[in-house]
Amino acid sequence: MNRELILKNVSPSWLGGYLEVHESLGSTNDRARELLDERGPSAHGAVVIASAQTRGRGRLGRTWLSAPGLSLALSVALWPLEGEPSPSLALAGSLAAARALRDEVGLSPRLKWPNDVLLGRRKVAGVLLEGRYAGEGAAGLVLGIGVNLNQEREDFPPELRDSAVSAKQASGRPVSLEAFAAALLRPLSGLLALGLADPAALVDAAASWWDHELDEELEVQTGEGAVRGRFAGVGREGELRLRCGAGGVAVRFGEVARVRTAGGARAAREDGGRP
Ligand code: BTN
Repeated sequence: MNRELILKNVSPSWLGGYLEVHESLGSTNDRARELLDERGPSAHGAVVIASAQTRGRGRLGRTWLSAPGLSLALSVALWPLEGEPSPSLALAGSLAAARALRDEVGLSPRLKWPNDVLLGRRKVAGVLLEGRYAGEGAAGLVLGIGVNLNQEREDFPPELRDSAVSAKQASGRPVSLEAFAAALLRPLSGLLALGLADPAALVDAAASWWDHELDEELEVQTGEGAVRGRFAGVGREGELRLRCGAGGVAVRFGEVARVRTAGGARAAREDGGRP
């Protein structure tokens, strides 16, 4: 991957002033964390990019596969200046990936709570927000974004072939990793700044991108078991709000395990996200 090609297409900003580009790394999140260890607050805005990872991590202890040239792994080191960061900050990553897929590749992605990016019903990108703690509070954060760009169906392991998709599968065209990295960094700069200053405003910015329809029935796997209810929106801190009977619950961590379709509304989006 060519670092200059990426830089040529992004305007100078607080994000990516320090930019490392690797062909292969263990995990870009680990490297961004090392930068926080080494540089402290001055690592704020440093970006690490790799076109392959040997130990990529996903949410909920899962592995994230990044084979050479097929996907983009990008992590940002952050040192928020005030207070506890909101979990909704991860939305900056998913929203930036969704905008880049729309603007650079011409697709119509949607967001699945908490921060997956979907094309049709399949996942094209995921986000992992990790805290680095020292003493009492957070001493740095790492926001990691993984995007499937050039995989064919057989490049995914058999168990993921029906749930994962690449931008190339959906658009029919290969995607330049450098062009996509630049297209991701462009919106990410403003979205992260927004999320750091006003987390609720970031939730508002994502409002029209959710793949969940109001009142649609969702089942969410949480650490304490499954919760069912009707989608009532995403709250100020990024929590999923569900209506259950006469009451409601707010789910902060988990995975939307099943989405019931109402009147086949989703079938129309089974085309892999082409507009
Ligand atoms: C998920 O959906 O489970 C989150 C996937 C996050 C993957 C990215 S790739 C860049 C960064 N480095 C990692 O090891 N993980 C994140």
